[in-house]
Order: sequence, then C-alpha cells, then structure tokens
Amino acid sequence: MNRFIPYGHQRIEEDDIQAVAEVLRSDWITTGPAVGAFEKSVAGFVGAEYGVAVSSGTAALHTAMYAIGVGHGDEVIVPSMTFAATANAVVFQGATPVFCDVDAETLLINPDVVEQKITSASKAIMAVDYAGQPCDYDALREIADRNKLVLIADACHSLGAAYKGRKVGTLADLTVFSFHPVKHITTGEGGMVVTDSPQYHRRMTMFRNHGISTDYRQRAEGGSWFYEMVDLGYNYRITDFQCALGMSQLKKLPGWIKRRQEIASRYDRAFNGLGPIEPLAVTSNVSHVYHLYVIKLRGIERDKVFNSLRAAGIGVNVHYIPVHLHPFYRERFGTREGMCPAAETVYEQILSLPMFPALTNEDVDTVISVVREAVS
Ligand SMILES: Cc1ncc(COP(=O)(O)O)c(C=O)c1O
Repeated sequence: MNRFIPYGHQRIEEDDIQAVAEVLRSDWITTGPAVGAFEKSVAGFVGAEYGVAVSSGTAALHTAMYAIGVGHGDEVIVPSMTFAATANAVVFQGATPVFCDVDAETLLINPDVVEQKITSASKAIMAVDYAGQPCDYDALREIADRNKLVLIADACHSLGAAYKGRKVGTLADLTVFSFHPVKHITTGEGGMVVTDSPQYHRRMTMFRNHGISTDYRQRAEGGSWFYEMVDLGYNYRITDFQCALGMSQLKKLPGWIKRRQEIASRYDRAFNGLGPIEPLAVTSNVSHVYHLYVIKLRGIERDKVFNSLRAAGIGVNVHYIPVHLHPFYRERFGTREGMCPAAETVYEQILSLPMFPALTNEDVDTVISVVREAVS
C-alpha cells in the first residue's frame, strides 16, 4: 500500500515556528500588536480597507451577520452546497437561511435561482466560492443592489482568487476567510472579515470582544479601567501568536497558490476526456485558487470509488452533503429532498482529491493512477 496521502494538509516551516516563538516571548499573547498587523496585511493583500481577525471562519461568518444587523424575521439566501457553518451563522442570529440551488457544472450559487428566493424578508445574499472558484459577482451584485440586499462572500475557500481581474475581498460588502489548517494559510484556528465600511468595521471589533467598546490593550495603554458593554457580543478574539503565524504564512501564499494551480493542471490533463471522470467546470474569467480539487463520477458508484481509494491510502473526501438535508435543518426549518435538485444530484457524484502545496508531482501521479484504476 502507498503512504497515506491526505486530502489537505498545513505547511509549517521553521520561520513560522520562529515567528510564533517571538510573540510567545513578548508581553502580549492575545490581542496585541500582531493582531492589528495581520488584519492590515490580509486586508492589504486582498485590496480591502479593514480586516477584523477572529477565532475561526465560523466566528467570522457570525460576526459578518451581526455587522449587517441580521435578526429574527430576516432571511439570508445561502447556497445549499457548502459547509454547514455558512448557514449556521444565519441561525446564530435568529434569522432563517433560505437554501438556494447551485449550478450543476461549477457548484456555485445560481443567480437565477437567487432571484426566485427573494422575499420581503430577505436581508442578504451569502455567496460561497466553492472549492476556490469565485461566484458570478457581477450578477450577484446587480441582484443585491436592485433588491437592496447586502452581498456577503464566504471566501473560506478562495483567499487569493480573482474574478474578472478583481480580487476576492473587493467583490462583496463583507468577505469572510478561514485559516483552518486545510485552508490556503493557517493560524491553527482563525478567520477574518474584510470590508471597506468603517461602520461594519466598528461593529465587528466590538462584537468579537463581548460587545465592549474598547479592548484591554487600548485601556491599559490609555491608563483607564473604564469600559462599557454596549451590545451583546462574544469572545471571538484570536491570539497574537496565531496572528504571527498568519503573517508568516501570508508571505508564502502566492507561491502556494501557484503550486495548487499546477497540481490542478496535472489532474486536469490526466482526467479530461477520461470516461467516467469529469473535473468541475471552471469559468474563463476567474483565477481559481483550488482549495479543493473536485471530480464528478458518472455511471459509477461514488462510494465504491471512495472506498477503494481510501483502501489504497488516498485520503479522498466528499464536500459537501447539501446543508438543507442535515437533520437539524429538516427538523428546525422543514427543509427536504427536492428543494435544491442540482446540489442533491451532484452531491451523489462528487469526490475531492488530495490538494495541498506540499504534494509532489510523484504524489499527484500516484493519486491519478489509483483513481484511474478505481474507475476502470
Ligand atoms: C465554506 C466554508 N465556510 C465556513 C467554514 C468555517 O471555517 P472554520 O472551520 O474556520 O470555522 C468553512 C470551513 O471549512 C468552509 O469550508
């Protein structure tokens, strides 16, 4: 059997460890100078004015929902083909996620279906850049503006991607990133919301710190003990040493994206035109950053292929069970089969292959030959 190849894996190098050690030896290990520096660096990298770093991508989604004032009685349109956290963030605020079907070729939210889902209770559209490919933001922006909705990008898969030459981070009113270990860069756990809006920025910095209007460091440096909690918030703070890791990782992001794209091309060349395997479609006007490399299997049972690949040491995965089919959503919101037919059909066919920058060409060729064998 081959060495086990996971579907995703972080890359931590000596300089990353040094960067973290340096902060651990300093005075501030939480909400110190590295947090602000990391926020500035990520916002600068993606072309946004402000960044608010928090403890996870999920916390970042919740913080974005709070920023726009979503609450009871409101609806937010979300694609069904995503990780549960996208929809959960809507529920955290007491609002209702309205599940929208995706395009069967790209698995990105379908703007035509978005239109059909808009009601007088709609407050926002949440786009998910599935696998690392940006959605059709021109179409979504037009729909959002015409219906006075906020446009949010769940860009947990797409840090560094671009649409029509414009970077993810500049395409929506708020954009959310995750720094979980399988993502493009990691802080262990961590996330960030970027925006150009000073109002959203102010609300979010408060929300991640219990709804308190100043943080401890600001008070310590200002020589004051006084603080007020002005709204209900959470402890969603990220630590300084996590942000030091993030800063160190960010320097390597362009090279790592290039490597992900090379791996994707190698897979594409191997699988294009290969009977039962069909890589997901990529539109011509995007720079896809391949958080995931997803194939569709036709005329062959996905789970059979999944099992034989796992048995051969290839860490394939399935992203995702359509969120509206999870028991929680069925029971709480009455969602059911048939609501998002494209997502439901394609879910049965998809498989995510190993994709991370440290994969060697030899690893990729091993995956290709085992996949070919499994479908033959
Ligand atoms: C599309 C999407 N949104 C949100 C999240 C949540 O991010 P985190 O794991 O950092 O909380 C993930 C994580 O996998 C994701 O894939």
